[in-house]
This record gives sequence, C-alpha cells and structure tokens, in this order.
Amino acid sequence: MKKFLSIKNKIKPFNKIIDIDGDKSLSIRWALLASQANGLSKAKNLLKSEDTISTLNCLKKLGIKIKLKGNDCQIKSNGINSFKYRKNLILNAGNSGTLGRLILGLLVHSKTKIKLIGDKSLSKRDFSRVTEPLKKFGAIFNNKNKTLPIMIKGTNSPKPIKYFENIGSAQCKSSVMFAALNTGGETRLKAKKSRDHTELLFKHLKIPIKIKKTKKFDFISLKGKNRIKSLNYNIPGDISSAAFFIVLTALSKSSKLKIKNVNINQSRIGIIKILKRMNVAISIKNKKIYKGEKIGDIYVKSSNNIRAINCPSYLNSSAIDEFLIIFLIAAKAKGISYFKDIAELNQKESPRLNLGSKILRQMGIKTKLNKNSIKIQGNPNLEIKNNIEIKNYLKDHRIFMMSVISALVFGGKWKIYDPNSINTSFPSFLKIIKKLRN
Ligand code: S3P
Repeated sequence: MKKFLSIKNKIKPFNKIIDIDGDKSLSIRWALLASQANGLSKAKNLLKSEDTISTLNCLKKLGIKIKLKGNDCQIKSNGINSFKYRKNLILNAGNSGTLGRLILGLLVHSKTKIKLIGDKSLSKRDFSRVTEPLKKFGAIFNNKNKTLPIMIKGTNSPKPIKYFENIGSAQCKSSVMFAALNTGGETRLKAKKSRDHTELLFKHLKIPIKIKKTKKFDFISLKGKNRIKSLNYNIPGDISSAAFFIVLTALSKSSKLKIKNVNINQSRIGIIKILKRMNVAISIKNKKIYKGEKIGDIYVKSSNNIRAINCPSYLNSSAIDEFLIIFLIAAKAKGISYFKDIAELNQKESPRLNLGSKILRQMGIKTKLNKNSIKIQGNPNLEIKNNIEIKNYLKDHRIFMMSVISALVFGGKWKIYDPNSINTSFPSFLKIIKKLRN
C-alpha cells in the first residue's frame, strides 16, 4: 500500500446499504475460547485483520490446530489446559492490547517460561494492570517494568482470587476471567462497567458464572470448569468500525446509510446514545438476540442542527473506542462540547486524547485540553481550506480513519500517512469508502 493517502475532494451525496467487518472483540474472544473448548469450533465472518491473525498465530504456536478460509475459521482443541508449551516460546501480540492481555490469563498454568512481545505501540502500553492480578493466581512474571516484552511462567495449580477492577477495562476483567477458568474454586470480581462480551460468552457456554449488576459496578463470580463445549459463532459487524460510517453520513450532505447486522450490545452503543443527544438522525431496526448478544441494523441520515454535548461520564466506557470520531461531530456542533474523565484515551494504541485534540486544532477547531478532559468549540459552518498532514501517530488505525472521514466531510487538502494501519481492525475501510464515492 502507498505511504500516504491524499484526499482533496469532499464526498458527494450517497444513499447506500453496507456490511461492516466482523467485531474485533468477539473475533479475538471466539478464537481464545475455542482454544479452550473440547472439539471443533467454527466461526463465520471472523474479522480477518492483523489483530485476529496475531491471535491465531499465537494459538498455533501453543499447539492449537487452526484452519482459515476467507472469513470462515475452524479451531480444534483438546480442551482447557491443553496448550503445548515448547521451550523458549515467544508469542507476538502485534498491535493488540486485547490479545496481549487476554492471552496472559490463559497462560497462568503454563509449564514453561513464555515471552510476550508486541509492536512499537503495544510495547508502550501498561501491562501491570493485568500482571498484578495474574500474580495473585500464582503466575510468575520476571519483569519489573510495566511494559512488553514480559516473561510469564504459570503454576500447576492456579488459585482463585478476589479482584477489584477499577479502571473500567474489559481487557483486565476478561484476563482475570480467563485465568479463573483454570482454577478449582470461585473467583470474585467487582468490576467497573465495561463491555461484557466475555460474560455473555461464558454464560452461553454454560461456564458457572453469576453476575449482579449495579449502576457503576458488576459483581461477577465464576468457577473453573473441566470441560467447555465447542463454540460455533457467526460474528456480527463491529460497531467501532460502523462508527466511522455513521459519522461520515451524519456530516455529509443529503446522504443516507443502512449498516447491516451490527453488534449493538448495551455496553458498546455509547456512540449511538451520545450522537442522539447531539441531534444526529440515527436509529436501530430489526433487533435480534444472537447467542446472548444483541444485533441490529443501523440507519443514519445527514444531520443539520447538531447540538453540543456535556457528555456524562457514565457513557464513557460504552464509547471508549469511538471518542475520536465523536470529536468530529462535536467539531460541527453549535456550542462547546465537553468530554470528561477520559484519561484512558491516552492509554490506547496512541495517546488519542492528545492526538485527537491536535488534529482538531489543525482543522481550525478550538480545544481546551486537560489530562482527563477536552472542551471542543464547535463550528456549524466548518469548511477546511488549508493543507493538513497527519503523520507520526504510532500507526493508530482509528487516527487514520478519523482523519479520512474529516477530509471527506470538511474539505481541505489532506495527506494522511500509514493507510495500512486500517489492517489492524478494519481492512475493508477504504473499499467501503470507494463504494460510497461511486
Ligand atoms: C477491548 C476493550 C477496550 C477497547 C479495546 C477492545 C476488548 O480496552 O479499547 O479496543 O475487546 O476487551 P480496555 O478494556 O483496555 O478499555
């Protein structure tokens, strides 16, 4: 692929129906759980992106048999605790925090030392948030640093733990839940709200789990199991990918879009709630339940009279990957939008809060940035006339896609580096843009 993408023209009105690539969180969880199940598990519409391929490669190194054809995948395993631990094993999580953190949970019973590495972006991210609770299970880590590479050595008999997850991170919660699968007793978590795909999959697989939900926290208790049944799964579209096209449509003139078969789990639809409050014309139809997850079709139209928002913090975790693209709606809103308690954004694939603000300023939008919050002064008449270059952003896929959407709706002459960053989460992104431009 080219070194950079240039965009010089706005997108023309469109009226289309699209499919979106499979959900990343569900694709990675399906593969990891299939590696613990007895027998053959099959997935359809698996997201075929670098993060999922890294997941499959790590599992292959651990002796799991995998076949991938198009977006169909089959995983064969002998069940829990059946990884083959070769000496000097190195697992590469690539760019994926979800893979890196979740797989450590499965390695609490490893018989040999395993080294976990990742790319430049992942190697800057904090892993102590998972190594600390995993130590309580009995795993040993020989690295005092918080970052990759780290070395893990498991224990023969992981002990159940009590754990307070107070970041609101589904990765931390799920890592602990995966580790708990290997224990004899009951693990108890008090977890700040975050996406609940792992809980729903565990329930579907009849893994003994109890969940009590309160407004801020979920209380989860679960027990290990000797046998997990195989898991056939049809992966729905990823709302985090749909988000870019929702915003593209809302900010384009005289346009309409239907996005089919998207996962609309309550813990993921913060963007829809936020955009509705900002007066974006968006709705969900044809809702169904699939293996515990909610699925639906998303309808969105060009939206005028966008209102600023004082975004309530309780929506943050359900929109955590969507703030960059929501900032573009705020850029077009009448008034000052305020997003608070979002320091976590700087812990993602790149420091997204800082970089998001920087890009808005390049676009001529005034922002007031703090460690934990941002105020964005919207401009309903925003028209970009200048040249904008987006470079050196740790190849964060969502920074790239946000920049493309901005170029297509606000104009200006953009040079956006590292187009191949989309392969992390949304390989079809540019193909869908092309379809909407025709
Ligand atoms: C994810 C959880 C979120 C999210 C990431 C995917 C998951 O991270 O940002 O893209 O699949 O569990 P945190 O759990 O660290 O917030």
